[in-house]
Amino acid sequence: MQIYTFFIFSLFAFAYALPVSFTDRTPSRITTPRITTRAGSTVSTTSLSTNATTSANKYVVAHHMVGNTFPYTSQDWLNDIKLAHASGIDGFALNIGSDDWQPARVADAYAAATNSSLNFKIFLSLDMSILPCSTANDAASLRALVTTYLSHPNQLRYSRGSSTQLPLVSTFAGESCQFGQASVADGWRSQFAQHPDLQGKMTFVPSFFVAPNQMSQFQGIVDGTFNWNGGWPIELTTDSAGSSSTSLSSALKSLLGVNTTTNAIGKAQTSTNTSGLQGLENAISTFIGSTDSDIQFLNASSGNASNNVYIAAVSPWFFTHFGQDSFNKNFLYLADQHLYSKRWESLIPAQVPFGVDSDTNSHATQPSISDQVDIVEIISWNDYGESHYVGPIEGALPSGSEAWTDGMNHTAWLSLTSYYAAAFKNNSYPSVSLNEERVVMWSRTHPASANAISDNVGSVAGSELVLDALWAVTILSAPANVTLQIVPSSSNSSVSPLTEQTFSVPAGLSKLTIPVSIPDALDSVSMRAVVGRGDDTVIDLDAASQGFEFIKTPQQFNFNAWVGCEGGGCVV
Ligand SMILES: *[C@@H]1O[C@H](CO)[C@@H](O)[C@H](O)[C@H]1NC(C)=O
Ligand SMILES: *[C@@H]1O[C@H](CO)[C@@H](O)[C@H](O)[C@H]1NC(C)=O
Ligand SMILES: *[C@@H]1O[C@H](CO)[C@@H](O)[C@H](O)[C@H]1NC(C)=O
Ligand SMILES: *[C@@H]1O[C@H](CO)[C@@H](O)[C@H](O)[C@H]1NC(C)=O
Ligand SMILES: *[C@@H]1O[C@H](CO)[C@@H](O)[C@H](O)[C@H]1NC(C)=O
Ligand SMILES: *[C@@H]1O[C@H](CO)[C@@H](O)[C@H](O)[C@H]1NC(C)=O
Ligand SMILES: *[C@@H]1O[C@H](CO)[C@@H](O)[C@H](O)[C@H]1NC(C)=O
Ligand SMILES: *[C@@H]1O[C@H](CO)[C@@H](O)[C@H](O)[C@H]1NC(C)=O
Ligand SMILES: *[C@@H]1O[C@H](CO)[C@@H](O)[C@H](O)[C@H]1NC(C)=O
Ligand SMILES: *[C@@H]1O[C@H](CO)[C@@H](O)[C@H](O)[C@H]1NC(C)=O
Repeated sequence: MQIYTFFIFSLFAFAYALPVSFTDRTPSRITTPRITTRAGSTVSTTSLSTNATTSANKYVVAHHMVGNTFPYTSQDWLNDIKLAHASGIDGFALNIGSDDWQPARVADAYAAATNSSLNFKIFLSLDMSILPCSTANDAASLRALVTTYLSHPNQLRYSRGSSTQLPLVSTFAGESCQFGQASVADGWRSQFAQHPDLQGKMTFVPSFFVAPNQMSQFQGIVDGTFNWNGGWPIELTTDSAGSSSTSLSSALKSLLGVNTTTNAIGKAQTSTNTSGLQGLENAISTFIGSTDSDIQFLNASSGNASNNVYIAAVSPWFFTHFGQDSFNKNFLYLADQHLYSKRWESLIPAQVPFGVDSDTNSHATQPSISDQVDIVEIISWNDYGESHYVGPIEGALPSGSEAWTDGMNHTAWLSLTSYYAAAFKNNSYPSVSLNEERVVMWSRTHPASANAISDNVGSVAGSELVLDALWAVTILSAPANVTLQIVPSSSNSSVSPLTEQTFSVPAGLSKLTIPVSIPDALDSVSMRAVVGRGDDTVIDLDAASQGFEFIKTPQQFNFNAWVGCEGGGCVV
């Protein structure tokens, strides 16, 4: 299928908590034209000239929005650090913006890391979509921030191809910063990377939003690439508010003949593929967990392959729903078909005894780029505004985001994180004991095609692409029968399921899915996963008992995920 070749313009911006004074944080539009080449083509990683990682360690870190931590105490930082550490996360990339209180939170975070005695690492991610960067003085402020922590015992140090490990410094954006100089490259070079304050004292790995072939202008300035967008199949993104670039959306709509009262893609799973929907879903699946953009960035920096640090992004989700009177961001990135798992798996050597994968086109595995990835950065720990948090719901949420985050913590995803993080760092999947077994299960809370009755933000760009489904991952010590059920939302064990499917799965990790739909007679349903061996039920994840409902008619659109975990191996 060639319908997926589009020029896509994507919007990147962070929602941002402003608990004290409201300074407008204008979302930054980054227009990076990309040509998608994935459909039908595979890109060989062996054509790359990079060799295996020469640094001794690989790290897993999580992007932490300091902007959402206004009320944090040292104890809150300590709690985050302990939970992250228990989940296989080695450190936080602290996203720092411009509020005058943020440096104090950063200081608390570094101190709490020391206090934790967990050897937990911290580094700064300068949020250049907020921090000013038009004058040399702006750069001086950044240098002051960075130099404060260069010798901190908990500062993450990382260098490739060198025995001296230098402090890591990163950014969110910054590809337009000139710091009063003639060009962006001059600005970052003379006022930051090669300024005497910092030259030779750090490993600088920003996430500049530029096309891969634009990275060459930063040679000698950056020490590697953080590919922020690698976490999602952004090629499949309908553009967000304010844009006229809706080519994908309309192409899909006309192809699907989308019926607004049904989810055409979801229906395709249960009915025969009369309108080519199965093929469409197959095509979409080839983007899930894709390493195409990683390969392009790795290739682009091959001139310095031996010492270029590569930070790969993984993210479980993306949904944001701010109106024009607020941050004006109302879109989602596709995260269906076990995106979080499949993205991780493409960053880990492909030697897993993978179990069942019941997604469409489950054999569309991505080439593993594990040899070239130094650090995995999870996006994010706590960005509630964009729904990609894996930590608990804490701190000060961006105003308005409570509407899609209330009751929807994502800590169950930490129980997948711990498994994949261990595999990434050890180049080998961990074995699972009986008391470490777990089931993680998630779904959205209403059909993709639902009409929200009192939503004043409007329908969500990208929602045409999503499936009505429950997704589950089982991590087991021995073979089992796993039954996924759609149940009445007032379920208890004596009520029969509305639909169910049983999967015979081996030990290790399996990725399972079934469609969700609501019978005409009901207003809502819930879901359940039961792991059985012989006549015994070993794990029973009853989402209804934890308050999960999939409702026919929501008040407001909510494409965030409800996530649950059950079993001795759940991190929380
Ligand atoms: C990769 O490693 C091999 C063997 O050590 C070496 O011969 C080759 O030059 C290396 N290639 C690069 C691009 O560093
Ligand atoms: C370190 O931990 C101790 C005991 O838990 C606590 O009293 C102290 O405030 C902590 N200090 C910091 C900087 O977090
Ligand atoms: C949409 O689907 C509903 C439910 O299956 C059906 O009743 C309706 O006629 C469909 N509308 C169109 C325009 O096909
Ligand atoms: C369904 O799709 C598969 C491939 O996705 C194709 O081989 C098969 O012929 C299709 N069946 C029908 C009835 O269209
Ligand atoms: C790598 O870059 C070279 C030249 O810049 C280009 O010819 C080649 O197609 C690229 N390979 C991949 C896999 O992107
Ligand atoms: C590689 O990096 C070094 C130091 O960062 C720089 O001096 C050198 O010019 C770079 N090599 C290439 C081919 O750009
Ligand atoms: C997350 O939500 C679930 C379900 O509502 C709840 O049982 C659990 O205690 C929550 N966990 C945290 C850490 O808030
Ligand atoms: C790392 O992998 C090796 C096998 O390659 C295994 O023996 C060892 O137990 C693993 N370590 C951890 C901590 O999982
Ligand atoms: C479970 O459902 C049955 C049948 O509807 C009902 O009789 C019973 O009271 C319910 N039990 C609980 C604990 O809700
Ligand atoms: C799964 O169910 C089948 C059919 O009931 C049974 O034969 C098999 O032993 C079960 N497998 C396990 C691991 O319990």
